Amino acid sequence: MNKVGILGVGSYLPEKKVTNFDLEKILDTSDEWIRTRTGIKERRFASPDQAASDLAAEAAERAIKDAGISAEDIDLIIVGTNSPDTLYPATACLVQDRIGAKNAAAFDLQAGCTGWVYAFIVGAQFIKTGMYKHVLVIGVEAITRMVDEKDRDTYVLFGDGAGATVLGEVDKGGLLSSALYADGSLAEHIILPAGGSRLPLSQEVLDKRLQYTRMNGREVFKFAVREIGKVSLDAIKKAGLTADDIRWFIPHQANLRIIEAGIKRIGIPGERVAITIDKYGNSSAATVPITLDEIYREGKIKAGDKLLMVSFGAGMTSGGFVLEWSK
Ligand code: UT7
Repeated sequence: MNKVGILGVGSYLPEKKVTNFDLEKILDTSDEWIRTRTGIKERRFASPDQAASDLAAEAAERAIKDAGISAEDIDLIIVGTNSPDTLYPATACLVQDRIGAKNAAAFDLQAGCTGWVYAFIVGAQFIKTGMYKHVLVIGVEAITRMVDEKDRDTYVLFGDGAGATVLGEVDKGGLLSSALYADGSLAEHIILPAGGSRLPLSQEVLDKRLQYTRMNGREVFKFAVREIGKVSLDAIKKAGLTADDIRWFIPHQANLRIIEAGIKRIGIPGERVAITIDKYGNSSAATVPITLDEIYREGKIKAGDKLLMVSFGAGMTSGGFVLEWSK
């Protein structure tokens, strides 16, 4: 089996910043509540003419440039998203066309906020087996389109953005372990009820605002804290390491309190945890690759560093992996 590593990273955040103070003007909420309960200060909103594929294409082009290859070298594109441009065709196909990756196969993968982590592990298999040389794995969301501006329970949490990675064979290090989980019995806890085959759109659906995300925050919180600990310890153990060996923990950015409770369970000190939730909020499947790109651009990752990336979300799903940086 080939060793699989990250050859290139890129991200894209839409320009429009929406602060907690902006939200105070349209919802019964406060900067104080949002900051202390979630750690979020501001988030980005896609502009009206931008959909998921537009954000994804920008991030993809940056990752391809960083990898020093061209779009035609990409063999497969996997897009992890919960806010595709349309239910079909796949957003990955739109990205394929947009960036000129004319030799690439393309599909979307939906695993809630764990979408990019799942997509990464799926994409890695093609490199491991030698079937493909370059796999582009993207996490992208224009998720603010799927939350109700009248629902303070969800609207304050989410933001838009995209992160992309080019996977390929490396000589040393690379992916050391992975752990993916799902529990469909918890599906109701984060759900976009309408617009699929169960409940097609109708005037009644729109009147009840079922075209927007519904979330049981407290249940998701409990699940998240438990899963962050379980997945992380599992991935670390499978890599033959201990928490002390992890240079950077890059968790899903859903709530700072979830991250803080999670790292206590894992035994990783706060200074080795990458945080972007304050600036970008919860961009669902995009938070982990966006945060990875941010610390990479800041020069904080060195060859040989062991990174632990973990996420959780709708499904409910959870997953993570340990990767030794080899760039
Ligand atoms: O990406 C994966 C998906 N999402 C998550 O991971 C989210 C997981 N859950 C959470 O992060 C937290 O549960 C929330 C941030 C969503 C909520 O925080 P909480 O500490 O669990 O608050 P709560 O739901 O227990 O609500 C506390 C109070 C309630 O009022 P009462 O019933 O105590 O009077 C809410 O109505 O806060 C109220 N509240 C708000 N107040 C101001 C809920 N949302 C808001 C708001 N502004 N935006």
